[in-house]
Amino acid sequence: MLSARQILELKNKQKIAQITAYDFAFARMAEAAGVDQILVGDSLANTMLGYKSTREIGMTEMLIFVSAVCRGAPNTHVIADMPYLSDKDPETALENARKFLDCGASSVKIEGRKKGILEKLRENNIEICGHLGLLPQTATSFKQAGKTEEEAETILREAKELDELGLYEMVLEHIPNELGELITKSVKSITIGIGAGSHTDGHVTVLHDALGINPGKIPPFATKFTDLYGTGRKGIEDYVKFVHEESL
Ligand code: KIV
Repeated sequence: MLSARQILELKNKQKIAQITAYDFAFARMAEAAGVDQILVGDSLANTMLGYKSTREIGMTEMLIFVSAVCRGAPNTHVIADMPYLSDKDPETALENARKFLDCGASSVKIEGRKKGILEKLRENNIEICGHLGLLPQTATSFKQAGKTEEEAETILREAKELDELGLYEMVLEHIPNELGELITKSVKSITIGIGAGSHTDGHVTVLHDALGINPGKIPPFATKFTDLYGTGRKGIEDYVKFVHEESL
């Protein structure tokens, strides 16, 4: 499995393909398909558990899913997302990050610019992926972030700060293309875009959006590569028909 520092070297050779996965079966599929990194995102609150907000889950749920993903993809760099309030102060963040590493995760992801917390984890040699732009844990609106000059400057400044703190990677969510490009040119860390244009060092997509696992709308910046909901539903319909047609 590639360490955070090896992934960092990879960025000069190829774009980094990251996908979310939340359980053993899909992690195994993602590893077999050759993804560079798996993110066990707290988006599992929405995709797997049907909650409206990522704020509704905590460490208890995340540890179950992170362990399952590490069992399914033992040779892939797994990033564990720190859920809401699991990083509420430096000590709590360190304790929780260590729990994820004990499960087999290679690094942790933290939303926002939380200087003291990031410093504490870096002092303890924990590899961190940052997350800037749209921040689902605290967002009041899911609109594009960084649209005004002032907002864009803030996000760029935060990106530089995360870079200086030694974060090997940062997710840039739902920001203008030009800002994604500018940040990518301004930092040494890997930039992973989700709705941040085509100039970032790599991309992350939510598994359920990419595979069409849920019916209904996906975010405007996501691409549906297949229709697993349709295929799966048809398979179950065929099964139901098979059982109902069996003679009593
Ligand atoms: O939780 C998640 O899946 C994420 C991605 C959207 C980057 O944070």
